[in-house]
Amino acid sequence: MSYLSSKDIRQKFLEFFEKSGHKVVPSSSLIPTDPSVLLTTAGMQQFKPYFVGTADPMQDFGSKNTASIQKCFRTSDIDEVGDETHLTFFEMLGNFSFGGYFKEEAIKYAHEFITQELGLKIDYVSVFEGDSEVPKDVESEKIWRSLGVNEIKYAGRADNFWGPTGAEGPCGPTTEIYVNGVEIWNIVFNEYYMHADLPAGASAKEGKSLEPLKQKGVDTGMGLERLAMVTQNKPTIFETDLFSPLLEKIPDLEIKKQRVVADHARGIIFLLGDGVRPSNKEAGYILRRLMRRVFVYENLHKFRPDFLEELIKVVIENYSHFYPELKENRNEIINEMWMEHERFAKTVSHGLKELEKQTAINAKVAFHLYESFGLPYEVIKEMGAKRAEKLNREEFDEEFKKHQEISRAGMEKKFGGHGLILNTGELKAGSEEELNKVLRLHTATHLLQRALREVLGPEVKQAGSDITAERTRFDFNFSRKLTPEEIKKVEDLVNEKIKEDLPVNFKEMPKEEAEKTGALFFFKEKYPDKVKVYYIGKSLDSAWSKEFCGGPHVNHTGVIGKFKIAKEESIGANTRRIRATVN
Ligand code: SER
Repeated sequence: MSYLSSKDIRQKFLEFFEKSGHKVVPSSSLIPTDPSVLLTTAGMQQFKPYFVGTADPMQDFGSKNTASIQKCFRTSDIDEVGDETHLTFFEMLGNFSFGGYFKEEAIKYAHEFITQELGLKIDYVSVFEGDSEVPKDVESEKIWRSLGVNEIKYAGRADNFWGPTGAEGPCGPTTEIYVNGVEIWNIVFNEYYMHADLPAGASAKEGKSLEPLKQKGVDTGMGLERLAMVTQNKPTIFETDLFSPLLEKIPDLEIKKQRVVADHARGIIFLLGDGVRPSNKEAGYILRRLMRRVFVYENLHKFRPDFLEELIKVVIENYSHFYPELKENRNEIINEMWMEHERFAKTVSHGLKELEKQTAINAKVAFHLYESFGLPYEVIKEMGAKRAEKLNREEFDEEFKKHQEISRAGMEKKFGGHGLILNTGELKAGSEEELNKVLRLHTATHLLQRALREVLGPEVKQAGSDITAERTRFDFNFSRKLTPEEIKKVEDLVNEKIKEDLPVNFKEMPKEEAEKTGALFFFKEKYPDKVKVYYIGKSLDSAWSKEFCGGPHVNHTGVIGKFKIAKEESIGANTRRIRATVN
């Protein structure tokens, strides 16, 4: 087989599955809509509602089968980055079925793609060995043998059972494909729902925690980097065309450090491109760690000053044909990188000096270095060398958690010991004053969605929203950047409806009836049988805006104040984000 570039592999994969009846779905953002996880870690995440049956794939995709190439980010392998195969950010190729096909087709597709389309030889496959709750997967073994694959290894929960992303979710036994000694494809047969009474990924101890799903599903995941490594016949992922242009730009230093810089640079750029910003918590904290590790190397090894921008340029050049959001957000990516660089430069030299003074670095000392000087764990461990020999991530994370609990306690105090007075998931307010603002922003968000559809057309569909006293954040599906004229039109339209001082009311009714009113609803959400339809206008029939919504809202639009769009950006293929305020 002739040389296949990573571009060719992506294309072959999507064409192969499209040809066999799969709807190709774009990657979702690295910031997931599922609040139980910090970042998108698997291709199946955006499809969770279809696996559990709360959303209908026929309605949304016109097919029970989909395929995607998903941007993924995992911190679980961060300590391994620098070896032959581990990464933080990676692209995952996957095909999925929600009640369409099952084991036979899934295995046949994978076999044909690997052996025929890519011309690779399968070393062996692994299959679930069975335990007290989940039977041995003899069916998969039979299917593999019928295809002439007779090297079969059986393994248990740790290796051949895939658990949910987040606290709970679909899961099931897996079969995995190995090529050139590397695990390349994980095929999950979703047969169960794992409940949240167990930590994520833990194996169920009692039957009640695994509940059979009403509809069986297939979820497969194959890392593009590893696939490129075996297809291009390279000894490590870093020698594939996904990394070589990037490594060329990285100054001469120890190979492991070069690989860390290459991995982290991609991660940083993709996270920034999807709207993550460096901070001290959640996804922002992960991003900050990656950035600061690169900055420390840069500082210690005196890289050229334009080195960071060079890396951004190469990543954007090599990836934006498939991920246009990188190009679109280029300026933000560069600015954020420099801003964090400046923040770090102010403290880094002090931090490294302070680190040098320490004779033994335990978790407490390490946390102090992080807190006061912003040195990430990875850097402390590496620079501390022998003195940080006993330092381990669990103890450091413990310190970190303790600190977060203290600051949370401080926040509760601020809110009078009662925590938030409103928290619907979408709306959050800590005081009466904030509540007033949040309700105004909430009603404004309904007007915004309606105005967007009026100006841009009915393909605008809500993809998420989050409202605090400062601003509303509304995510929606739309394929391109809005023009300044469109933004102005949307703003004017919302302000016009505010001026008209329209009444805001709701009617409660059965879901089917509510759907017939033409009210908008959020397709990923699971609604109860009886729902509230909030409408803005004199009557339900004549209302300008109608949405399925739990409330609460203001009573009439006149109190909202002046509506202003502060920012419009891409947060992933086909997904836009608007931040807006009212004053
Ligand atoms: N969900 C599985 C994984 O992440 C297969 O896509 O490996």
